[in-house]
Amino acid sequence: MTRYINVRYKFLQICKLAISLVLFSTLLTFSSFSFSQNLLTNPGFENGTDGWILEEDSSAQFTESNGRNGNRLTHWSSSASYTAETKQTVMGLAAGTYRLSVYTVGGETSGAWLWAYCDGQSFSTPIPSSPWGSWAQVVVDNIPVSGGNCELGITTENSEWSSFDDVFFERVSGGGPSEIVIEEGIGFCDVDGSVDSNHSGYHGSGFANTTNATGNGVNWQIEVGQAGTYSLQWRYANGGANGRPGEVSVDNQTSSHGVAFPVTGSWTSWANSEALELWLDQGTHTIRLQATAAEGLGNIDSLSIAGPGIVSGHECGSSDAITLWMAGDSTVMNGGSSCPHGWGRDFADYFNSNVSVQNLAVGGRSVRTWLYDVQSSFGSDGECILSTDSSGNPILQDRWQTALSGMKSGDYLFIQFGINDGSSSCPRHVGSNAFMQAYQMMAEAARARGATPIFITPVSAVRCSGDTAVASRGFISETFDSGANLSVPVIDLHQRSIQLYNERNFCPIPGGGDVSESTGGAVGAFFCNDHTHFDTSGAYDIAGLVVQGLRDLNLPLTQHLKNDTSTPVNVFLAGDSIVSSYTDTSSPNDMAGWGQMLPEQYNANVNIYNHAIGGRTARRFIEEGRLDAIWEEANPGDYLLLQFGTNDSHRTATYTINGQTIPYYLDPNTDFKSYLLQYINGARARGINLGFVTPTPRNSAYCTGGNGTGAWAQAMRELASVEGISLIDLNQKTVNHLMAICPSPTPEDFFFVRANGSIDGTHFQENGARNLARFVADGIGEAGMALNGYRK
Ligand code: GCU
Ligand code: CA
Repeated sequence: MTRYINVRYKFLQICKLAISLVLFSTLLTFSSFSFSQNLLTNPGFENGTDGWILEEDSSAQFTESNGRNGNRLTHWSSSASYTAETKQTVMGLAAGTYRLSVYTVGGETSGAWLWAYCDGQSFSTPIPSSPWGSWAQVVVDNIPVSGGNCELGITTENSEWSSFDDVFFERVSGGGPSEIVIEEGIGFCDVDGSVDSNHSGYHGSGFANTTNATGNGVNWQIEVGQAGTYSLQWRYANGGANGRPGEVSVDNQTSSHGVAFPVTGSWTSWANSEALELWLDQGTHTIRLQATAAEGLGNIDSLSIAGPGIVSGHECGSSDAITLWMAGDSTVMNGGSSCPHGWGRDFADYFNSNVSVQNLAVGGRSVRTWLYDVQSSFGSDGECILSTDSSGNPILQDRWQTALSGMKSGDYLFIQFGINDGSSSCPRHVGSNAFMQAYQMMAEAARARGATPIFITPVSAVRCSGDTAVASRGFISETFDSGANLSVPVIDLHQRSIQLYNERNFCPIPGGGDVSESTGGAVGAFFCNDHTHFDTSGAYDIAGLVVQGLRDLNLPLTQHLKNDTSTPVNVFLAGDSIVSSYTDTSSPNDMAGWGQMLPEQYNANVNIYNHAIGGRTARRFIEEGRLDAIWEEANPGDYLLLQFGTNDSHRTATYTINGQTIPYYLDPNTDFKSYLLQYINGARARGINLGFVTPTPRNSAYCTGGNGTGAWAQAMRELASVEGISLIDLNQKTVNHLMAICPSPTPEDFFFVRANGSIDGTHFQENGARNLARFVADGIGEAGMALNGYRK
């Protein structure tokens, strides 16, 4: 059943309640509304039904000329009874209120709707008839979206016809731009100088005047509802003789961004500075603007910030402190001043100052001896007897009581036991069921306090079989089963640690035998004086494995990780001529691919291997062994970004492999998706982080939003959503850009210009490719890929 049925059902229900007039907006014959950005693909049907999904009777949905502008969409079939539903999904919406509209002409009177399905709620309005030649607009207004996706469509039933044109879906309120004015408190923190009001023309109650010296500045604290690129601008006056340049840093990071504050002529002439475009992750940020010249800054009236999400001022100095509560044994505990140490000891080092660690792990504990006062004898249930209080309840250890009373919303509880629990005697012995019950009890207690529990399989001892480190611990399946039963995330530290020992060739133990006090080399430095307990460096690296596990789970906590951009990371690119690298001459107009420009977006620790090559489809790339070549080079934790669709949409071209002629064309809904699945399965099997990049549109997208590759982009979106793959919607970003910079630049500087002066509407020149690379990097950030931490 398609979702429209659901929409329609709700529509009918509501009509029965006779409140339809309140909910449905009316037919407008003109619009007084000034349009903002249209978020739809191919909204005017200039590219046929590209970008739209045709549900129900697809033969009853087609485009014709004589639209309101250019083409129109028509719903009609000679069949007496048909249903036509034309829809598309818009993803990654910022929170806010949205408006959907369409122009219509035609005879349908009783069975057509314009509808939106957002955040689990349906909104719709009937589309009435309008005589031929008289296009009327139908609007669904006030669609609240709290972030995410909307499905939008037009549905017609019965035997009459309707035509549609110029569908518009736009955000009308909510979200940026929002402005923070210094004088109105929240968001403005302080100035190295004074807040003055002795020059007129400021807004609010004053302006920030830095004492005139380099390094003096102004601080703000803001909260950003959604990760994205934000534009920052300052209202200022500079009555001095010279420009007063400043630099901006976010969250005290060392990298800063210059902003010019040229003279404005007088201290009462206020102007807006140039805009600074910055990537901001979701969450709270400090923004500091400070002078780089001896005169200090100009007088700063306000900071305004505009971007894809809601920005608000945040109370300065207040923190959203998160506590990580650690429950575990000697492999987790802090330890004393010398060996042994557990991985909880320096865990906090991986996080920014929002996060602190309460390490309650204690050596020698099973989960039950950690939680309870356990006696040294077995009870009739085969478990060690728990001491109880006068009411018969088990006596809790102080550490668990500390956690219970301190744990608050937003905190995390990390639980790792299983090393001591395998003991055959009491008090340590814990059976499988009792182990799982204890995990369940702890997870529920954490959740009851708004905290997130995380189960961790026991870290492995270094145990060698010849030159291979092998499994050493129990309670692995109990940990996984508990996680699965309770939907608690599990980090397989047991497996990750074994893998680390193998990567570092810890086996066989140098000197032979087991790890001891005299073991030297890397193993000696990692472990204390046995195969279980860690020295400082080992504990630190094991904590790093837990951090990697958090990243792979993509938990919100990872937003608070310090950006570790010191570890090199490999990014492989698969794709076609849009992605590939070209010869770079001294001309700025060379043909260029975004893969070639991507390194500019990242620091030097990102190694980009561009395997993209012209004329390839998702299928041909595989058949020529190019994907296998990537699999051979790539290691777990590396990235693969792939973009196809440009050649896959070519209906006539062919290529030859082993004497066999094979078409470029891959149906977006079937073959294209099945070849893409091979990339997904291969990446999953190898632990490689995969990102789908939707194909770029052609130059028909200028102004009109034309989108010849739209169906392949949509196929990638759909598959990414079903399979949980990171999606980088380059298609949407490029369409938006090309619509926004209408008319096309003269001379053309985005698409490639051939030697004869004609425009190659498919390939890009350097400026275009550079912009595409920026869009890809933006998309990587929006998709929450850890690679974004390496962004310049
Ligand atoms: C003047 C002016 C101040 C300004 C200062 C400066 O003193 O009144 O508002 O901050 O010059 O040079 O920075
Ligand atoms: Ca000053």
